[in-house]
Amino acid sequence: MTLPDGVPRHDFDGTTSIATKGHPEYGEATDGEWRRWDPHRSKLGAMLALGMDTGLEGGQKTLYLGAAAGTTVSHVADFGGPTYAVEFAPRPTRDLLDVADHRENLFPLLKDARKPETYAHVVEPVDVIVQDVATRGQARVAALNRQFLDDGGRLLAAVKARSEDVTADPEDVFDEVVAELQESYEVLETEQLAPYHEDHLGVVARPLE
Ligand SMILES: C[S@@+](CC[C@H](N)C(=O)[O-])C[C@H]1O[C@@H](n2cnc3c(N)ncnc32)[C@H](O)[C@@H]1O
Repeated sequence: MTLPDGVPRHDFDGTTSIATKGHPEYGEATDGEWRRWDPHRSKLGAMLALGMDTGLEGGQKTLYLGAAAGTTVSHVADFGGPTYAVEFAPRPTRDLLDVADHRENLFPLLKDARKPETYAHVVEPVDVIVQDVATRGQARVAALNRQFLDDGGRLLAAVKARSEDVTADPEDVFDEVVAELQESYEVLETEQLAPYHEDHLGVVARPLE
């Protein structure tokens, strides 16, 4: 079954969930080739489970910022097109390389997402940027990488409030980050990712022309 967002759903022991077909990576439930995409382990998964209008269609070229060990990007690559996965920490990147071994369309890049000039020669224009960097300056990271996004493309970002300011009210942090994002993107939709992820805001945006 495929719903309008283009991400398949599959039934696991009587419960329907977002799912992709591919090599299992993090102990997720499986059924034959199907692997359950756990929204509790993935901010993008939570955005999908909450019904946000991500514009995902399958087969899209994707730049993924903050890939960590590859939990979410493994699902993205399962149903997407060429998928460039940027992560700056060497330890999780080692696990990401194993995830990429099972996916010929997944290209790990041990790079800093604040320095897009270091991977601009490798990454082609993309339809989607997924961002989950959980670092200070999340709006700036999105702005710096806007150059890779096709005009009709989408930014799908998870903003972690405590990465910007541990003491501030998350609502205030979200307002500030969204205001800064609006300098380079039109923000189409925002939604808090609770109960899957506390104090995180899911953002769907498209580049300003
Ligand atoms: C919350 S984790 C990502 C989890 C992952 N997106 C998933 O769902 O499987 C955030 C990751 O962003 C990485 N990160 C933070 N700042 C970064 C930067 N400037 N460039 C690249 N990676 C960064 C961290 O090392 C960490 O692995």
